[in-house]
Amino acid sequence: MSLAPAGKKRIEWAERDMPVLRAIRERFAKEKPLAGMKMSACLHVTAETANLARTLKAGGADLLLCASNPLSTQDDVAASLVADYGISVHAIKGEDEHSYYRHIAAALQHAPNVTMDDGADLVSAMIFIALGRLDDVHAEVRGWAAKLKPDERAALVKNVVASMEETTTGVIRLRAMEKDGVLKLPVIAVNDAQTKHFFDNRYGTGQSTLDGIIRATDTLLAGKQIVVCGYGWCGKGVSLRARGMGANVVVTEINPIRALEAAMDGFQVKPIAQAAVTGDIFITVTGNIHVIRGEHFALMKDGAMICNSGHFNVELALDDLAKLAASQDKNLGEFVDEYVLANGHRLYVLGEGRLINLAAAHGHPASVMDMSFAAQALATEWSIKNKGSLDHKVHQVPEEVDQWVASLKLQTMGVAIDTLTAEQKKYLASWEMGT
Ligand SMILES: NC(=O)c1ccc[n+]([C@@H]2O[C@H](COP(=O)([O-])OP(=O)(O)OC[C@H]3O[C@@H](n4cnc5c(N)ncnc54)[C@H](O)[C@@H]3O)[C@@H](O)[C@H]2O)c1
Repeated sequence: MSLAPAGKKRIEWAERDMPVLRAIRERFAKEKPLAGMKMSACLHVTAETANLARTLKAGGADLLLCASNPLSTQDDVAASLVADYGISVHAIKGEDEHSYYRHIAAALQHAPNVTMDDGADLVSAMIFIALGRLDDVHAEVRGWAAKLKPDERAALVKNVVASMEETTTGVIRLRAMEKDGVLKLPVIAVNDAQTKHFFDNRYGTGQSTLDGIIRATDTLLAGKQIVVCGYGWCGKGVSLRARGMGANVVVTEINPIRALEAAMDGFQVKPIAQAAVTGDIFITVTGNIHVIRGEHFALMKDGAMICNSGHFNVELALDDLAKLAASQDKNLGEFVDEYVLANGHRLYVLGEGRLINLAAAHGHPASVMDMSFAAQALATEWSIKNKGSLDHKVHQVPEEVDQWVASLKLQTMGVAIDTLTAEQKKYLASWEMGT
């Protein structure tokens, strides 16, 4: 708790760059649209998230926050949220697997009416419990869930008005649940809002991933060959920024359209087995499993650095690397582990293969999280207004929320745009005019 004063300064610093969220907070404080709602949010516990938490609390929510990643918590921010803002936080940077899931269990015990996830860990645990599949949840969650009666387990999901999902990986999992008929609550895919993934995934991940690599290694990017695995929203941002820093970027893909887009954007496109031979720095951002495996590590040159900025720490097959290594130094630097292969090549894994931008840097800059979290807050308000009428499926954020967030962001940036004239409106709606 002694860290709270530093955390408060950090939260206030982030707030300066979050004018859209601030406007929502001011309105929420008057209108209390979340009154009477218990909320559990499983998010990266950072200064930007703290401003979302303040907004939800101002709206009347009884909020509990836990971490969505063991390495991303800013402890001073967590302390300040408790001390200065009266928000319950269950998170500590570097928490082990048991603490991580004990904190998720605490978020479940809060019996939320609204949940927020970044990667679907909280809702997945809820669904497994509701399905009675206790063997599929971590022992820390199972210990508590096993004591619940069947009707109490069912109530856990029945009480949920809606569940917000922040990231691509979470949305993919929730869609898979919907497809298998086990999604027992309405989900809002906040990630899929245009004001979220166009900006957060692209510009936020683009900048902060390189920031994480630089902070972890102090390496110069100019002149290096950087291999970006995945040319989705995050991959486009990382590639763009890496090129801007003077790196030669090679993209790997499995989707021909995305690969073509990368090629036409001017990047080299190669299979990972070829890129592995020449790359200096490897960054995975695919949301997929074992994208870089033993067969690729074995080809890498001496000194290659490897990291991941996709959601889960499964993109790099680190077990394969451990098997290949003749020796390891797990503490070469704070975020650098060295693996020395039998051929003498030294490979460096950054941030233990977890999201490098949150492990070694501070995640996305506040001004981009302003938009993502404005969409979160407004989607929450919208789902509460539509309580009881949302099906158990993955819903999109309403178009008007996207438009409103974008308009207000433009205003705060001092950017004005044109509006349609009456004639233009008519023309766009007509099939007869102007032909
Ligand atoms: N680091 C962060 O702060 C941050 C921010 C937002 C999203 N994410 C995460 O990053 C990941 C990517 O998100 P996105 O929005 O870019 O997703 P996306 O779906 O837009 O892009 C992923 C791309 O990876 C490609 N891909 C899949 N398997 C591959 C493989 N084996 N080799 C090469 N390419 C492959 C896909 O074809 C796709 O083009 C997700 O896990 C998401 O949750 C991280």
